[in-house]
Order: sequence, then C-alpha cells, then structure tokens
Amino acid sequence: MLNRLFHKPAPVEGTLRSLADSANLQMGVAVDDRLLRGDPRYRELIAREFNMVTAEDAMKFERLHPEPDVYTFEDGDLITGFAQAHGVAVRGHALVWHRMNPAWIEDAVTSPEHLLKLLREHVVTVATHYRGRACAWDVVNEAVSDDGALRESVWLRGLGKEYIEKAFTWAHEADPDACLFYNDYGCEHPGPKQDAVFTLISDLKSRDVPIHGMGFQGHMNVESAPGRRKVTRTLERFATLGLRLQFTEADIWLRSDDCLKPTALKKQARLYAMLMQQGLAQGCFDGFTVWGVADHQSWVPAHFPSWGAPLLFDEDYAEKPAYDALRQALHKSSRRMAR
Ligand code: G3I
Repeated sequence: MLNRLFHKPAPVEGTLRSLADSANLQMGVAVDDRLLRGDPRYRELIAREFNMVTAEDAMKFERLHPEPDVYTFEDGDLITGFAQAHGVAVRGHALVWHRMNPAWIEDAVTSPEHLLKLLREHVVTVATHYRGRACAWDVVNEAVSDDGALRESVWLRGLGKEYIEKAFTWAHEADPDACLFYNDYGCEHPGPKQDAVFTLISDLKSRDVPIHGMGFQGHMNVESAPGRRKVTRTLERFATLGLRLQFTEADIWLRSDDCLKPTALKKQARLYAMLMQQGLAQGCFDGFTVWGVADHQSWVPAHFPSWGAPLLFDEDYAEKPAYDALRQALHKSSRRMAR
C-alpha cells in the first residue's frame, strides 16, 4: 500500500492529441475566436494537443444571427478554417438554447407559427452553412431545469416541448451526416435532472427522432464532483439508449485560494483522470472536450468568483497535473492496448 501511495507514475510520451488518436477518441477543446485570431501560442497549443474543437461562443444564436435577416458567419468560419488547416474536427455549439438569443426574437414573435418558422430557418441555415465542416452539433442545449421540469424559454413558451424534436429533425434534414447531440450540465450523477433527461431522450429515440448523442457538459467543482461509481452508473444508463456519449464541456473548479496548492491540483487531476477512465470504459464513449485552454481564459472565475483554475494549462500555458493525468489515463486505456 505504501509503495502505491508513493509511486510516481512513469512519464508518458506523446501529446494528448496523439494518445487520443490511438484510443480512437475525439479530444476536444472550446475555442475563443478572438484568441484564435490574436494569440499564436494559443493556436499552436490547440493544434498540438487536440483533435477536435468546439466554438465556445461564436456559433451561438446571438453571434450568428444578430438581426432577423443578417447572418454573421465570419467568426465561426475562422474556427472551421483553423480546424480544417490542422486536421481537427469541429463540434457545432449550439443550435437551440434558452440563453444568448438576440433581443429581436422576442420583438419579432407575432404568433407560434412565426416563431416556428423563425427557429426552423435558423437551424436549417446554420446547419446547412456548416455541413461537411461540423461533424456534430449540440442541437438542443440545457432544455431541462435542475428540478427535472422543462426549462422556461422563448422556445418552450411559444412552441411547447415539440420544439425539441423539431430542432433535431430540421438539423438532420439540413446535414444528414452530422451527429446530433442533446447537451446539458448536472447530469453526470443520478438525480431528478438526470432522470428527466433520460426520459426525454428515451421518448425521442422511441419515436425515431434523429438524435445520436448525449453530451454531459462536465462542469463541476472539486468538492461536489460525483464519485467514480455515480459516473459509471450514469454512463452505463445512457449507453442503453444506443447513443454516442461524450463529456462536452469539462472543467473542474478549485477554490480560488487553492489554485496553486499541490494537493488541490492533484485532486483535480484525479477527478479529470476518473472521468476519462470511466468514459473510455464505455465502447460508445468517443469524445472528451475541455471548456477552454488556459485557466485565465475560463468563464468560471468571471461567473463564480470564489472558484477558478479549472483547466489543463496555467496562465503561462504550462501543463498542470490534470494534463498529465489525462495523458496517463489515455496511455493506460485498453482501447489503446487493443490496437
Ligand atoms: O464579447 C463580449 C465583449 O465584447 C464584451 O465587452 C463583454 C462584456 O461582458 O462581453 C463579451 O461577451 C461575453 C462572451 O462570453 C465572450 O467572453 C458574454 O458577455 C458572456 O456572456 C459570454 O459567456 C459565455 C457563456 O457561455 C454565455 O454564452 C462563456 O464565454 C461560455 O464559456 C459559456 O459557455 C456555456 C456553454 O455555452 C453552455 N454550457 C455552459 C457554459 C458555461 O456557462
């Protein structure tokens, strides 16, 4: 036992990207188009370490469709262009969400028929624009509240819950090759929200709505993160639906006072490794995306000031223990051994 406790794992050769390639895994990162434009080190690190990117903000409704008849694809196109140049896949994010919708939607809604037409046009235009460039879409994002009820939104209010299946159907018509995900947070552990999402997806699948994947966002703090058994039970449960499973927005938050403490960084590293290991143990698990590159670029401290440092790289783009832990987990994966 003592030997195990003091055993320092042997360093692993290879980048996350090369290890993920060997494990047949999409190792993704959320990218900010402004940093992509302005920071060569950011670009270099992403191309070296990741084989998939998600647009952190550039493909949201408000950014792509700021006025009723205006689409602004430049920032999203910058991301798909970068990805293409570096042989990296793209997850589109997100076609339908209750947040980041432009104010004009509320003003423009004159009837349910009009809202339906407006949403259909948005989904079809965006999915068509990125056809062949985005291999997957978060079609519906966060449609369920923490208590398991459907979340209040302009879409639910105006269209009822049918907006969910319609969005999947339209996205599939526009891009039949894209893998279509339902994406949400807080479903990594059993509870009313997970139950409601499971029921929602089971119902869609039973009626042949084209939904292909479940994205577990994976935002969590070190104190309330689910344990190994809960994560396993969760992934096994959703695997029964015949879906592809991914962690789509992983970040594991430390208390602000602990961000440089070795014990906290090790705990964070263990949690990242646990998520990766439990994912890799499922044959249908094929993607692990982290929600940002370096700690200071994360959304977390701006929204939750007592938490921070949730990512794999520090402010100097130096690798953190969590980075090494993910490499170890990929290196040890039986998926790699089997190849
Ligand atoms: O670009 C403007 C800038 O011009 C302005 O000066 C500044 C002032 O606040 O705001 C900037 O926009 C911000 C944008 O991030 C870019 O930094 C928005 O206000 C801010 O709301 C936006 O936050 C994003 C948030 O989603 C809302 O869209 C975060 O970057 C992004 O990480 C976060 O991501 C979400 C996923 O999409 C869904 N799951 C949860 C996850 C975390 O909230």
